[in-house]
Parts: sequence; C-alpha cells; structure tokens
Amino acid sequence: MPTLNIIGAGKLGKTLARLWQQQGFFQIRSLCNRSAESTRAAAQFIGAGTACGSIASMADADCWLIACGDGQIGEVAAQLAPRISAHPDTIVFHCSGALSSEVLSVCGPAAIASAHPVHSFADPQLSVQTLAGSSVAVEGDQAAVALLQRAFSALDCNILTIEPEHKTLYHAGSVFACNYLTALMDLSLRTFAAAGIEEQQALQLLKPIVLQTAANNMQLGPEKSLTGPIARGDVDTVRAQLNALQNTDAQLAQCYRQLGLACVELARRGALPDAAAAQLTELLSEPTR
Ligand SMILES: NC(=O)c1ccc[n+]([C@@H]2O[C@H](COP(=O)([O-])OP(=O)(O)OC[C@H]3O[C@@H](n4cnc5c(N)ncnc54)[C@H](OP(=O)(O)O)[C@@H]3O)[C@@H](O)[C@H]2O)c1
Repeated sequence: MPTLNIIGAGKLGKTLARLWQQQGFFQIRSLCNRSAESTRAAAQFIGAGTACGSIASMADADCWLIACGDGQIGEVAAQLAPRISAHPDTIVFHCSGALSSEVLSVCGPAAIASAHPVHSFADPQLSVQTLAGSSVAVEGDQAAVALLQRAFSALDCNILTIEPEHKTLYHAGSVFACNYLTALMDLSLRTFAAAGIEEQQALQLLKPIVLQTAANNMQLGPEKSLTGPIARGDVDTVRAQLNALQNTDAQLAQCYRQLGLACVELARRGALPDAAAAQLTELLSEPTR
C-alpha cells in the first residue's frame, strides 16, 4: 500500500485521508498543519498519521498531498522540494480547482499533479459520507495522474481529465454552481426576512422548491427548467418586485437585476417573445436609484 503524507490536513485533507485510510488505498503516514493543535485534531479525525511540527520532521512517503489554502501551495512546495529531491519516484499533488500542477514544478524530479474534487467540504463528518459519486478533475505528469485516478476511483469518484490551461474557467464554472448558489440562498433568506418570514420557516418553505429546481435542471437542462415572471414575460410583476427590493436593500435589487438579465437571455432561447425580452432588458438595465 503506498504511503501518503499531508501538509495541510484541513477540511479537504482530513476527509480524503480518512477515506483512503479506511479503504486501505493509502497508508497515512505524517501530517503537518500550521498549528500543533490542528495537526493533532486531524490525526484523531483520520484515525491514523503522526502529527509533526514541521515538514523537515515528517517521515518519507511515496506520495505527498499539499492541501493548505491555494495561496500557500507554491510556498509550501518550495519548502518541500529539498526534502524530496533525492527521491525521484515521489508523487506530489494538490487539490485546488483554481491552480494547475505547474505550481508544484519546483518539486521536480518528483511527478506532480492536481486533482480537484467537485465537492463542498464544508463539514468533514458529512463529506466522508457524501463524497462518493463526486467528480474529480485531474491533470499533471502521467505517473501521478495514473495513481490519482486509482486513488479517487477507490473512493467511488468519477474521474475527468482536464487541460491545465482550462483550469481557471473550469473552476469558475464550479464557483457559479456551488458558491454562488449558496449566495443565492442567502439573498433569498434576506428577502424573506424583509417580508417578515424568519429563517427556519423560510428554509422549510425553500427546501422542496430548491431541491425540485435542482432536479429539474439535472433532468431537463436550464432552458426547460426556467419558470416564473421572466419566463412568462410578466413585465409588471418584475417591475413591482424590483421597486420593492430597491426600497428594501440596494444589494438585493442589484443582484435581482443582474440575475434577471441572465434569466432574460435564458428565456429568449425558449418561448419568450422578442418584444417582452426587450422590455425586460430595458427595465433590468436601468441604473439603481
Ligand atoms: N473546501 C472545499 O470545499 C474544497 C473543495 C475542493 C478543493 N479544495 C482545495 O483544497 C485545499 C484545502 O482547502 P480546505 O478547504 O481544506 O482548507 P482549510 O480547511 O482551510 O485547511 C487548510 C489547512 O492547511 C493548513 N496550512 C495552511 N498553511 C500551511 C502551511 N504553511 N503549512 C502547513 N499547513 C498549512 C491549515 O493549518 P491550520 O489548521 O493549523 O490553520 C489547515 O489545516 C485548497 O487547495 C482548496 O482549493 C477545497
């Protein structure tokens, strides 16, 4: 069984480590976070791995995962490079969606790769139960890619290969659907709050429609899933909602305009008549008062 060291066993690192250890794919050997307390907590969560205070004090391993924040990956790779320079068979990878494996090139002659799981690791306890079925975008040196394809397949993930130059746009696509969906939920809850509906009740109200909308999109695609006043060309309703939002919170009104324009574009590809589309575009493009 190959051994794996992790620098930055945070939300993603400790989830993957625990799953790989349980599956018997990797033997988790050494862990190193910024703080000793966090490293010890990660070892406890994983159920394996020795907590180390520095990269220099970590044991040798076949494979290294650098799973600190994206901004620290290059700096940590530079610290790791002299530590592994005598071991050309070593594999080093990170899991950032935004960066390619290029940021690890300082670790050569080790084989380098990036493997981005399209999953939100908000809560590691939940993620260990829900990661299976997620997709993982992999790119890098052949030896590293081959190992990571097997490692993530062992966790029942789907593998997709990506060109390094496409990673930024690929990641922006994930940000729209994951992070911006969360921001949309917040905008919705703030709007309900302004209408006197408290959060728990609003979440109860939203759960079936949000899940149904997601299911419709997966099954029918966005064009056929769009319902509501913009899809119907109901200009008066859109004007009334915009006015109410402007009188409540400028950011809510601004977001309603921007997303409304995206809805008009989508509705035009469906049944929205050109005249209604033009009226809606003009209304939603007016500068916020
Ligand atoms: N979270 C997600 O949903 C998600 C999804 C896909 C990909 N990713 C990628 O996964 C990576 C990690 O994200 P995350 O959400 O797991 O981050 P995180 O929970 O903030 O964990 C980062 C870990 O890195 C450690 N760290 C930071 N700087 C370090 C350094 N210089 N040396 C050693 N350890 C250091 C931190 O230690 P302390 O605990 O001591 O501060 C922390 O344990 C990122 O590349 C991210 O893009 C994340």
